[in-house]
Amino acid sequence: MIRITPSLLAADFWRLGEMVPGVEEAGADGLHLDLMDGCFVPNLTFGPMVVEALRPHTKLTFDAHLMVRSAQDYFPLLAPHCSLVSVHPETDPHLHRTLSALRDRGLEAGVALNPSTPPSVLDYVLELVDSVLIMTVNPGFGGQKFLPAMLPKIREARRKLDATGRRVPIVVDGGIDVSTAPLCVEAGATVLVAGTSVFRHQGGIAAGIRTLREAAGSSVSGLEA
Ligand code: DX5
Ligand code: ZN
Repeated sequence: MIRITPSLLAADFWRLGEMVPGVEEAGADGLHLDLMDGCFVPNLTFGPMVVEALRPHTKLTFDAHLMVRSAQDYFPLLAPHCSLVSVHPETDPHLHRTLSALRDRGLEAGVALNPSTPPSVLDYVLELVDSVLIMTVNPGFGGQKFLPAMLPKIREARRKLDATGRRVPIVVDGGIDVSTAPLCVEAGATVLVAGTSVFRHQGGIAAGIRTLREAAGSSVSGLEA
């Protein structure tokens, strides 16, 4: 079962209030929220106050992707609103402690990996990991080109996670569209984050989600055949 969680980064920020219920009506499985602090990545987006303001306007689960230096500072502010919070180990020497802190707050604990970060960072924290996000572009901006070199990394992460005997989702994030989604699904991804290909789809958000789901599904049936 493939989940599609559109990234609000590509939405029209002038009309955020109507975009969020619109994504739910369009058939999304959750909403991906990119929090950037201008330090860990060279861009700034929005913070927990905006997440809180959006919360009453949809039943969709919120997945927060923290591209920030001090991720733990945000946990108490995000915990009432989000289901999953993903942190970057590149900015954190204490990943084990951070993942434990997420779970202690009742959040699912996600690890997000930059393109140059190997999946081996997961090795000694696997039992604390509820989700692995593999960046398929460099973090910070939407609309970038998918990095095909991430496909073997998705496969390697899939092997590691399957060996735990638990069902841990692999999220792919960046440059996901109808041509790259099937490649990621075939490699072992189960959650597709898509900004540009959903919010900027010529036929509208619903058409963006539908075509992505069809593309991802065709890869699964291809594998089963
Ligand atoms: C980039 C973000 C992504 C971004 C993806 O740092 O993590 O979630 O919104 O955007 P697209 O789908 O346009 O590549
Ligand atoms: Zn993201």
